[in-house]
Amino acid sequence: MLHLAQDTDPGWFERIRDSLDTILVDHCHLEKRAASNALNLIFRYTGCEGIPRELSEVVREEMEHFTQVLDILDARGIEFTRLPPSPYATALQAELRKNEPGAFLDKLLMAGFIEARSCERFKILSQGLAEDEPELAAFYRELMIAEARHHLLYTNIARRFYSDSVVKARLKELAPAEVAALKAAGEVPRLHSW
Ligand SMILES: [Fe+2]
Ligand SMILES: [Fe+2]
Repeated sequence: MLHLAQDTDPGWFERIRDSLDTILVDHCHLEKRAASNALNLIFRYTGCEGIPRELSEVVREEMEHFTQVLDILDARGIEFTRLPPSPYATALQAELRKNEPGAFLDKLLMAGFIEARSCERFKILSQGLAEDEPELAAFYRELMIAEARHHLLYTNIARRFYSDSVVKARLKELAPAEVAALKAAGEVPRLHSW
């Protein structure tokens, strides 16, 4: 359902477990970027049916997630600092076609893949943290559901503007690129790292 070509490496949670503070800071940046990305799509594709309204809802939700993570950082006394992002986003960006009609499709599907991977990682976090950090685990469970919904929303928008076969074919091409981008990020403690 999430269209991911490969599940997260089973060792990921153990690799990041001792860097939870960094993961939370990274997560905070990620929500901010998700909001910004949705807003950019509204600017770029204003005239496309449904886009402004549907994506303004995504912007609102991602900003709410951003504020929720900020609150968690504050409660834990973690400073919200700049953090070199995982190379994941840059590697994904390189896969996107620059010219229409493909550019819009790629932007939608890639946004969908990022949501899907976040959803998968939030599930792993909610399971891994269930015993030691039940509140945080519950928060990640909630976000997992929201990001699954965003994944569907982006792929459904793509299906409105492109034929099913075009969407399917491009999903098939981009899915391995998404996994390669994760691997390119290496084993740094990030939400989107290997
Ligand atoms: Fe979010
Ligand atoms: Fe999202």
